[in-house]
Amino acid sequence: MPYVEDPPAAPVPPEDHPPGESTLALLRRHSGAAVGIAVVLAATVGGFAYVGGFLTPDRLGADKIANALEATGGGAHAGFRRAHAKGICIAGTFTGTAAAARGLSSAGVFDGRPVPVTGRFAEATPDPYAKDPMVGVRSMALRLQPVGGDEWRMAINDTPGLHVSTPEAFYENALASVPDPKTGKPDPAKVAAYLAKHPESAAFLARMKAKPLASGFANDSYNSIDGFLFVAPDGTQRLVRWTMQAEAPFATLTPAARAGRSANYMFEDLLARATTGPLKWRLVATLAQPGDPNRAAEVWPADRPKVDLGELVIDHVESEAMGNCRDINFDPLVLPAGMLPSDDPIPFARSAVYATSFRRRTREHTPPSAVANQSAGTRP
Ligand code: HEM
Repeated sequence: MPYVEDPPAAPVPPEDHPPGESTLALLRRHSGAAVGIAVVLAATVGGFAYVGGFLTPDRLGADKIANALEATGGGAHAGFRRAHAKGICIAGTFTGTAAAARGLSSAGVFDGRPVPVTGRFAEATPDPYAKDPMVGVRSMALRLQPVGGDEWRMAINDTPGLHVSTPEAFYENALASVPDPKTGKPDPAKVAAYLAKHPESAAFLARMKAKPLASGFANDSYNSIDGFLFVAPDGTQRLVRWTMQAEAPFATLTPAARAGRSANYMFEDLLARATTGPLKWRLVATLAQPGDPNRAAEVWPADRPKVDLGELVIDHVESEAMGNCRDINFDPLVLPAGMLPSDDPIPFARSAVYATSFRRRTREHTPPSAVANQSAGTRP
C-alpha cells in the first residue's frame, strides 16, 4: 500500500488581536465567544461548588460527617484516622473453602488458593492515645489481594450490629456525643434527646451492655454488620452478612481486672501472643431469609443459615508506619467481582467518609502511634 501523506493542515487564521487592543475591547468584539467561556467557567465553578456542598450547606456530605467525628475527639488528631484511630498492622493469608464459598459467590478470593492479606486491628476511638481499658469497641480491617485477581477490603467491628441504620442518624449521634468543653463529657441532655428520638440506638446500648468484652484482639470475633450481595457463578444474588469468628476460645476480663491493665494492654498482649503461633479466624457468612431487615441497627435471628467461607491466618503484627496498613483506606465498597453493595445505605456513606478521613490524614504530619516500633510473629 502506497504511503499517503496526511492532507495539509488547515491554514492558520491571521492573528486578529491588533497590537495594543485591551482585553476588554477584545472581549467586546468577541462577545459571543466571551459569553460561551463565561458559561463554561460558571458551570465548572458551579459543579465544584455543588460537589463541595457550598451551594447546599444543609446537605449531609462526607466533610460534615468527618467534621462531626473530629469534634467527638475534642478536635482533629492530625495524621490519624478520624475514627478507629488507635491501631496496629497485621499480615497473613486467607484460604477460601472453595466449594462452599463458590456456591455463594464467584469471587476469586474463594478459589481455595492462599490469598495474601494486609490488615489492621484497632479500637473505635478518635483518640490515637486512648487508654485501652476505656475503649469498648474493637475492630479488624483487611485487604485481601489475590495474585492477579480482584481485591476485597473490609472493615469489621466486634459489636452486635450498629447503633444506627442511616448516615443521618450516624451524624446526629456524633453531634450528640461531642464532649462539652466544661466537663469533657457529652452533654447528658443532648444524649437523652438523641436516644429518645432513636430507639434503635438505645437497643444497641442494651445489647452492648449484655455482651462481655473479649480479653484481647486474638480471641474476639468481628462482624460486617452491613449487608452485601454475594453473586454466585450462575448469577444468583443473596443478601449476606459475615463474621470473622475467632478460633481461639473466648475469654473475658472482669471489669476490675480490666481497669487494672495498662494503657496499651490490648496491643502488648497481641504482640506477645503473635510470637507463640499464628492467630486464626473462620470467615462465616450468614444468609438473610425473606423479610430480614437490611438495616445495620437490626440484628438477624440467630438461626439463620451459615456457610463457612474459609480461614484467616495472621502470622505477623507490626506497629503502624509509613507504607504499611497505616496508609491503606479500608473502604468497604472495594469488592471483587462476585460481590455487590446492597441497598443498605451505610456502606456508601462509609466509603465517602473514609476517603475524606484518608485525604485529611495523609496530608498531615503523622506522629508515632501509641505502640510504635514493635513487631512480632512467626512468619518464616
Ligand atoms: C455511617 C457510618 C460510619 C462512618 C461515617 C464511619 C466512619 C469511619 C471513619 C472516618 C474511619 C477512618 C477511616 C480512615 O481514615 O481510613 C472509620 C474506620 C473504621 N470503621 Fe467506620 N464508620 C461507619 C460505620 C462503620 C461500621 C458499620 C463498621 C463495622 C462494620 C465500621 C468499621 C470501621 C473500622 C473497622 C474502621 C477502621 C479501619 C482501619 O483499621 O483502617 N464503621 N470509620
